[in-house]
Amino acid sequence: MNASHPWSAERAMTIVESNRHLRGALLPILHALQEEFGYIDEQAIPLLATELNLSRADVHGVVSFYHEFRREKPGRHIIKVCRAEACQSMGANALVDHIKKSLQVDFHGTTADGAFTLEPVFCLGNCALSPAVMIDENLHGRVSPDRFDELAAETRTNPQAHQQIPRALSHKGHAQ
Ligand code: FES
Repeated sequence: MNASHPWSAERAMTIVESNRHLRGALLPILHALQEEFGYIDEQAIPLLATELNLSRADVHGVVSFYHEFRREKPGRHIIKVCRAEACQSMGANALVDHIKKSLQVDFHGTTADGAFTLEPVFCLGNCALSPAVMIDENLHGRVSPDRFDELAAETRTNPQAHQQIPRALSHKGHAQ
């Protein structure tokens, strides 16, 4: 389950205060805001401009430049599909086509029921078990279109169905 919190200007200010001393503070603050809220709220733009002595256009430009920054609240679950070479060689392109069709969303989109946001990633560290998909914190390997549909259905009905895999293990190629 995507565990982000509702937007709060007060909480955002706390994040700004604890990171503003960093060199090039805008990027780490944006990452921290997205970690906290799941996206960069429109209200963050003027707040960061004021606090970091930047123009709104500067802040907006950085947020727009990096695709990993979401501009809208994500779905309850984040699905990341690997688009890197090893996964592509094992059918990731067909899998992506299937996922988009099955969920009726494009990359960076959220399903109509708010259940899933679909995002591309470049290597999940699970190349030995390509093609790889991550749903929230759960890494899955050798995901066929049918397996994806099963995982999506299980996640919709029982978000806790899959045990979290420690990242250290996932990089050694262990997956569900
Ligand atoms: S290339 Fe897909 S997990 Fe590494």
